Amino acid sequence: MFNSFWELITYDIGIDLGTVNTIVYLRGKGIILSEPSVVAINKRTKRVLAVGKEARQMIGRTPANVVAIRPLQDGVISDFDTTQAMIHYLIEKTHMQCPKFFKIPKPRVIVGVPSSVTEVERQAVLDACKTAGARQVFVVEETMAAAIGSGLPVEEASGNMVVDIGGGTSGIAVISLGDIVIDKTIKIGGDEMNQDIVNYAKQKYNMLIGDRTAEDIKIALGSAAPLEEERTVDLQGRDLLTGLPKSVEISSIEVREAIMPTIDTITQAAKDAVEETPPELVSDILISGLHLSGGGALIKNLSVLWEKKLKMPVKVVDEPLSTVARGTAEMLDHIELLEKIQKGWDEIS
Ligand SMILES: Nc1ncnc2c1ncn2[C@@H]1O[C@H](COP(=O)(O)OP(=O)(O)OP(=O)(O)O)[C@@H](O)[C@H]1O
Ligand SMILES: [Mg+2]
Repeated sequence: MFNSFWELITYDIGIDLGTVNTIVYLRGKGIILSEPSVVAINKRTKRVLAVGKEARQMIGRTPANVVAIRPLQDGVISDFDTTQAMIHYLIEKTHMQCPKFFKIPKPRVIVGVPSSVTEVERQAVLDACKTAGARQVFVVEETMAAAIGSGLPVEEASGNMVVDIGGGTSGIAVISLGDIVIDKTIKIGGDEMNQDIVNYAKQKYNMLIGDRTAEDIKIALGSAAPLEEERTVDLQGRDLLTGLPKSVEISSIEVREAIMPTIDTITQAAKDAVEETPPELVSDILISGLHLSGGGALIKNLSVLWEKKLKMPVKVVDEPLSTVARGTAEMLDHIELLEKIQKGWDEIS
């Protein structure tokens, strides 16, 4: 009853606090924010100047006392203060977009974080939401949120397998009865593939390319198994010998070769998870299939490779970049779900 009163005068938000992207869901309105997890700060005054796209554009174009920081790296919170500043900003910005202008900024918040974060880091997220005005906060593991966002019946007595390949982590989990039975999360993801492409260009073409260029190439050509039609694009960078601009043609076959070591590592972790899963749950997964989410799920033909290597159906979920945010949304709509999730969440109120 008390909660219904709060629902009238406040709003609920779900946040996917990702290494690369942060997505905010406002209950009743849908996804209202999708921003890179970047914060621009004045080094001297410590004041936050911009968050998200605006902050990313500042990288390399700012005076010396302004720095653009990615507060989450490799799936861990590497900068507490900046993470807190980012959460603060997101909650404030959400309030401004709130459809009912008379509502007060005392939201209920669910935050999905990489399952590799430590207890101290989880506490920092809880505190950040509290100081930003939240009246109740839940921190959930992103694999659990990804499973719920994929539409899997996590609270039932059946095996559900989800792999969420983000920028800094690959969350691999088998879930049954609301509990994470197997967790093989590794601190490797799409960022590592970008680095693979940078290294490939250096070794094969004696060329230095930027991280953003590597990411563009990965998104355009990245694949895990042969494509029906292999493609090429121009790759631009700097010649390491002459220091001058250089351009070469790079093919999807080469990009596949470049990113394969990272894909192999993630594949092996998924294999290990299956091997450790009790046989009854494996037989459930053989029917429901492994669900693949996160930006890394968009690597072309990853499901083709995994169906062959893992010998089970592999489904890329719809709109994999927002699966975790949709999972938090589902929890906000069915708050009793949180009670059924036995592990992987903390609450303060
Ligand atoms: N079309 C695409 N093809 C391949 N990779 C992609 C594509 N779109 C995005 N990515 C990659 O997905 C990653 C970002 O995914 P996502 O937003 O799920 O990560 P995150 O949630 O921020 O990170 P994490 O879950 O590790 O904290 C980046 O490495 C990005 O390059
Ligand atoms: Mg993520």
